[in-house]
Parts: sequence; structure tokens; C-alpha cells
Amino acid sequence: MLLKVEKLTKHFDGLVANNHISFDLAEGEILAIIGPNGAGKSTLFNLISGMLPATSGKVFLEEEDVTGLKPHSMAERGIARTFQTTTLFDELRVMDNLAIGYRVRTRTGFWDALLHSSRWRREKEETEAKVMEALEFIGMREYAYHFVSTLTQEAQKRLAIGVALMSDPKIMMLDEPTAGIIQDETDGIMELILRLKERGITVCLIEHKMRMVMDLADRIVVLNYGEKIAEGPPEEISCNPAVIEAYLGGEHIA
Ligand SMILES: Nc1ncnc2c1ncn2[C@@H]1O[C@H](COP(=O)(O)OP(=O)(O)O)[C@@H](O)[C@H]1O
Ligand SMILES: [Mg+2]
Repeated sequence: MLLKVEKLTKHFDGLVANNHISFDLAEGEILAIIGPNGAGKSTLFNLISGMLPATSGKVFLEEEDVTGLKPHSMAERGIARTFQTTTLFDELRVMDNLAIGYRVRTRTGFWDALLHSSRWRREKEETEAKVMEALEFIGMREYAYHFVSTLTQEAQKRLAIGVALMSDPKIMMLDEPTAGIIQDETDGIMELILRLKERGITVCLIEHKMRMVMDLADRIVVLNYGEKIAEGPPEEISCNPAVIEAYLGGEHIA
């Protein structure tokens, strides 16, 4: 198992946002986490990626207990994430956002940069090559010099995935990668997620658009009111009575 989540629990005052949630993430799969608004999906991502401390429970990455590690340590170990609302630098260009995503992991310090040390030069070239590769991968080469504020929502979502990619992650956690995008414009994002998988990156995805979940996911975990109520392949989940009840109040998912 690449990632193992064991009985993760999070209390906010009186509210139980996650109650003993357990699941595994196998290398190379796309796992979707679904559930109604407020079910605890983003909280679960926050616990796994170290943004919030868990009340109890454990997280293992490749057998190593990584519970309670800070976000940067999780990033160093290969867990990257995007957020429900994008966290790009609006006033900077596309390529700058990617470069920043990479430079946070390089070692060049202030004096290296000031003195144009050989390390500075080497890392500058490395960064430029990485940025070009990411631009190509997310299909945004012609937008390299555009300012983020001028991009469509869809392009911003793709760029956010590109930024996450700059840390060479093993696992990408995507929190609603198509939030705010109309159904017709989700194909590009779907295709990009499939290419992450082809590249060998394991994907854990929170998503509301059912067609996308059913097409993309190898497995689905369903949360409702902080509880895991189901887990299984899409065809099983789509006719699971508890899921249908929770999710659509009795109607069929498809
Ligand atoms: N930082 C927080 N402080 C207090 N309550 C929170 C916090 N984050 C989330 N919650 C609550 O936890 C529950 C689950 O939220 P969330 O994980 O964002 O749900 P989802 O992503 O499934 O829509 C909600 O009731 C929400 O209001
Ligand atoms: Mg959420």
C-alpha cells in the first residue's frame, strides 16, 4: 500500500467532521472521495496532508508513520495537493507560478542568488527546464507569459495541477479540480488527470461531478456526516442503496 489511513478522526468543538475513517491508496490508482457538502472530504485531505492535526488516528506512507507531520514534510515525502479554491499568485505570470512551485524545494539561498554562484546557475537552468516540461504537460505552453488573473477558471485549475506537479509527487490530492467549471469544460481536466495516472502518479480526488467520478475512478470512498458509508468500484457504488440515499435522497446516481 502506498498510503494507509487508519481511523482518522477530527473533532471541531462539538462537531465530528471525520469519524474513524480508514482506507488504503494503492500505487497507480485513481481513488475518488465523494459525499454531500459538509461530509468531511476536505477535512480528510487536510488531515492527510498535515494542514490540520487529527484528533486521533494514523497515516502511513509506504509503511512509515507520517501522522502529524507538517505540510512541507509531507510534500517532501511526495504528497502534493490542490485546493478547492485555487491558491495561485494572481498577479504573476503562469510560468512564475510554476517556477515558485519548484523553487521552494531547491536549495539556492540569498547569497547564492546575489553572487550568481554555480549552484544558483545550475538550479536556474533546472527550474527553467522543469517549467517548460510542466507547461507542456498541462497543455499551456502558449500561456507561459500570461498573467494568472487573465486565465479562465479551467486554465487556472490546470495550472494549479501544474504547480503541484513541480514537486515531483508520488501522490496528488485534488480537491474538486473542476469546482466552478461548467460541465462542458471538464473534459480537459479529466484528460489531464488520466495523464497523471499514465505518468505513474497516484491520484486521490474529491469530486462532485458524477459522470467524471464514474469515468475516472478505479475506486470510490463515500463519506456522509463524517462517516465512511461505502467503498468500492464505481459500478458497485452507483447502485449502493446507502449511497443513493445519502447522496441523492433516493434517486439513482447516474
Ligand atoms: N476549520 C474548521 N473549523 C470548524 N469546523 C470546520 C472546519 N473545517 C470544516 N469544518 C466543518 O466540518 C464539516 C466538514 O467540512 P468539510 O470537510 O469542508 O466538508 P466537505 O469538503 O465534504 O464539503 C462541516 O460541517 C464544516 O463546517
Ligand atoms: Mg470540500
